[in-house]
Amino acid sequence: MFSPVFIFLFVLFLTVVVIFAFPRFSPIPYFPSNKKDMPYIVSALHLSDKQTIVDLGAGDGIVVFEAAYSAYLKGLNTKFYAVEINPVLLLILHIRRAFHPHRKNIFILKADMFKMNYSFLAADRENQTTFYIYISPWYIEKTILNIKKHLESFDVVSYFYQVKCLKHHKETIKKGFHMLYSYRR
Ligand SMILES: C[S@@+](CC[C@H](N)C(=O)[O-])C[C@H]1O[C@@H](n2cnc3c(N)ncnc32)[C@H](O)[C@@H]1O
Repeated sequence: MFSPVFIFLFVLFLTVVVIFAFPRFSPIPYFPSNKKDMPYIVSALHLSDKQTIVDLGAGDGIVVFEAAYSAYLKGLNTKFYAVEINPVLLLILHIRRAFHPHRKNIFILKADMFKMNYSFLAADRENQTTFYIYISPWYIEKTILNIKKHLESFDVVSYFYQVKCLKHHKETIKKGFHMLYSYRR
């Protein structure tokens, strides 16, 4: 017979597999940004004091925590939001946040990026919002359209994929493993 510990671990494993495999829990598959590209990603975010960075579909937080660490070292007051829908990744985000030196400025949100109301960002009039996205190209327009409903002005840094629905292209960074594109609306 199987021991209770084995059964518990097996059920846990199955739960995690289901959460990652079913689009209902994670419509965009989890692929982290390449670790080697972190310096270029952080530099493309142009971190400043009066800025809010929102990682839409933050995954395990590789980008948001790296950028927040850079802000911390520079003494910047930059705010960071990690938006995620996958419960396993949300748990990882909360654990990592608890040990981060810049945690007072890092907020974890359980939300669906396609339906989320972004107007709380507009309420913070002092801060310019920069969205970091690494999402499947067929979801990019839907995401940007939802943001536009709530925000007049924002920047977008997109990893790997161009954002064709934003006309004001600012910068393309070709140095890393994958391309980075930044835009202003
Ligand atoms: C390609 S991964 C990018 C992860 C992270 N931003 C990075 O660059 O390493 C996309 C992430 O979006 C999350 N996601 C998928 N659909 C979502 C939704 N509707 N709302 C919020 N997050 C979502 C997935 O769980 C996954 O972690």
